[in-house]
Amino acid sequence: MKVLLTGGAGDLGQVLVPRLLAGGDTPVILDIREPAKLPRGAIFIQGSILDRDRLVEYLRECESIVHIAGWHGIHESNGQKDAHDFFDLNVRGTFEVFEAASSMGIDKIVHISTTSVHRPDTLYSRSKILGEHIATDYGLHKSMNVTILRPRGFIPYWNHAVYTRFSDWARWFWRGAVHIDDVASAVMQSLFLLSRQPLDRPLVLTLDSAYEYTDIDLNNWDADGPGATFRKYYAQHYDLAVSFGLDPAVKPYKLDISEAIRWLGYTATYSLANLLSELAAHGDRGPPLG
Ligand SMILES: NC(=O)c1ccc[n+]([C@@H]2O[C@H](COP(=O)([O-])OP(=O)(O)OC[C@H]3O[C@@H](n4cnc5c(N)ncnc54)[C@H](O)[C@@H]3O)[C@@H](O)[C@H]2O)c1
Repeated sequence: MKVLLTGGAGDLGQVLVPRLLAGGDTPVILDIREPAKLPRGAIFIQGSILDRDRLVEYLRECESIVHIAGWHGIHESNGQKDAHDFFDLNVRGTFEVFEAASSMGIDKIVHISTTSVHRPDTLYSRSKILGEHIATDYGLHKSMNVTILRPRGFIPYWNHAVYTRFSDWARWFWRGAVHIDDVASAVMQSLFLLSRQPLDRPLVLTLDSAYEYTDIDLNNWDADGPGATFRKYYAQHYDLAVSFGLDPAVKPYKLDISEAIRWLGYTATYSLANLLSELAAHGDRGPPLG
């Protein structure tokens, strides 16, 4: 089936394209900029979700949509985008996508939201809350099957516009994030779910990474001194972590992903253990890209 990826030239879209192709689907990338890679079998349409007149045309023959396009926190913190930009793309853009889909009879949409909706103190988070309202409204009142995914931060280490070195990314992941591959898996699982089962209401599913730490560890964090809980699992990487500026005493917080597990069979695979192994093996270059 043809799957339209709004903003498909971005990080998440580029991870999804080969997965869709491998599953026998045709990814249709709709983006204002060209993708760095366009594997054989994928389709690229240079265009905007804000182009109301053309959007219906872009959606022709597509059976489902992954709505990714959106400015995110980084565009706000570096001053690149203002309130109008956030409203235009994240709010009106979401409306345009859902309205065009509805008019075309496309009833399967995976909407990429964010855990930032829990902290409505930024333009970004408020625009994503409004986007979720729109997605929910179409799910409830237009008989559309909608999965709203709320991932933690997932900008990948190979995005050098954001992370110069692997250790920059590692320090950020340390504070709480999810690997982009796990987010892509959840998108694929959502598409599979939507292809098999009509939903009577939109699903809202939080995505977090994998953890070695148990709830008991978190409840008794560092009872034996700073860094003690870290040593229990990653003793061989203690010095390495410190040398790259990661603080072993930082207590992570886990998010409740039980709904994603229940509905999608979501399994987070990337944890601090993976990160430390990659840091040990590749240092600041990070793992080579496949
Ligand atoms: N990256 C994260 O850490 C993170 C975390 C949680 C949620 N999200 C959500 O994921 C989405 C961003 O995904 P990403 O990380 O792949 O971002 P990205 O910035 O790499 O990609 C976004 C793409 O959208 C495209 N785009 C911009 N305006 C457009 C328009 N008018 N029409 C079509 N395409 C347009 C951009 O050119 C870009 O390629 C957003 O919805 C964001 O809220 C991101």
